[in-house]
Amino acid sequence: STEEMENRVWQLKDKFGDKLFIPGHHYQKDEVIQFADVTGDSLQLAQVAADNTDAAYIVFCGVHFMAETADILTKKEQKVILPDMRAGCSMADMANITQTERGWKEMQDTFGDTIVPLTYVNSTAAIKSFVGENGGATVTSSNAKKMLEWAFTQKERILFLPDQHLGRNTAYDLGVPLENMAVWNPITDTFEYDGDDLQNVQVILWKGHCSVHENFTESNINHIRKTKPATNIIVHPECSREVVARSDYAGSTKYIIETISNAAPGTEWAVGTEMNLVNRLTKQHLDKDVFSLNPMMCPCLTMNRIDLAHLLWSLETIEKGEIINQIKVEPEVAKWSVKALDRMLERV
Ligand code: 13P
Ligand code: SF4
Repeated sequence: STEEMENRVWQLKDKFGDKLFIPGHHYQKDEVIQFADVTGDSLQLAQVAADNTDAAYIVFCGVHFMAETADILTKKEQKVILPDMRAGCSMADMANITQTERGWKEMQDTFGDTIVPLTYVNSTAAIKSFVGENGGATVTSSNAKKMLEWAFTQKERILFLPDQHLGRNTAYDLGVPLENMAVWNPITDTFEYDGDDLQNVQVILWKGHCSVHENFTESNINHIRKTKPATNIIVHPECSREVVARSDYAGSTKYIIETISNAAPGTEWAVGTEMNLVNRLTKQHLDKDVFSLNPMMCPCLTMNRIDLAHLLWSLETIEKGEIINQIKVEPEVAKWSVKALDRMLERV
């Protein structure tokens, strides 16, 4: 039963003590998040891995790229374990290293040595390594603005991987006109650009997106404006430009949590982000009306792969001395990805 499984997890947490550390991303299910030693967005979880744990086993409740980041930032002898290997990220999968190297060559041919690459942490370790080796850095949704500003001190152009929306929304906030942004299509190996002169492009956006955040639409916003005009609309910057532009507030997972927590009682909030987080905010703020911007709700199916049963199974394998589902980044990949991550961590 659920209760038996929960008791068993508590028991094993007790037994392992400081040897075990469980980070949990805000999009994880409640049945898992209750056991997290720390909860956070992707930046906070990366910082915790880098600074705050000596645990022998890090059982990561989040998705594959986050576990890779934790492995890169922790000591060699620490083992990072992902309770279900199917917990990937469809956005991270939209940029592979072969496509990236091919696209980079074409971009160098078009623009010369004027581009610095930035990658959202929602990317594979191989992409982070490519970015680190080419003078760039990682970004998260909570520091993207600061990192784009830094990147423009390095080169006159930025390649932003793999989320076109976070790249576009952030560059727009910094004053880069939409006409000065082009999209790189890694399937056709071509630029998508309808301006007059490609040489005016300052930001090249990789054609990737988050399939969860793309479900929040302008029509969802129109509906709220019509039916509940007092509602504040707050969305994650992985939503499209149109949706961000028509919302009242946009920001990272941490920003959304803080804004709603600090809001006055009685206020109404339509939230454009992952379902588990929206449901948690609804329950935590019963004095406010907090609900999903899309009434169909938007779960991240891969985040949801990590459930109580998989968490328990992982802990039981450790108890038996079997290390299953360890996430191990090859040393030559880790070498440059740590550089990309450090360039971010030393600035935030
Ligand atoms: P943040 O945790 O940086 O807000 O990212 C959201 C996300 O989609 C994580 O996969
Ligand atoms: Fe990836 Fe989007 Fe899920 Fe985050 S919410 S893990 S970006 S698919």
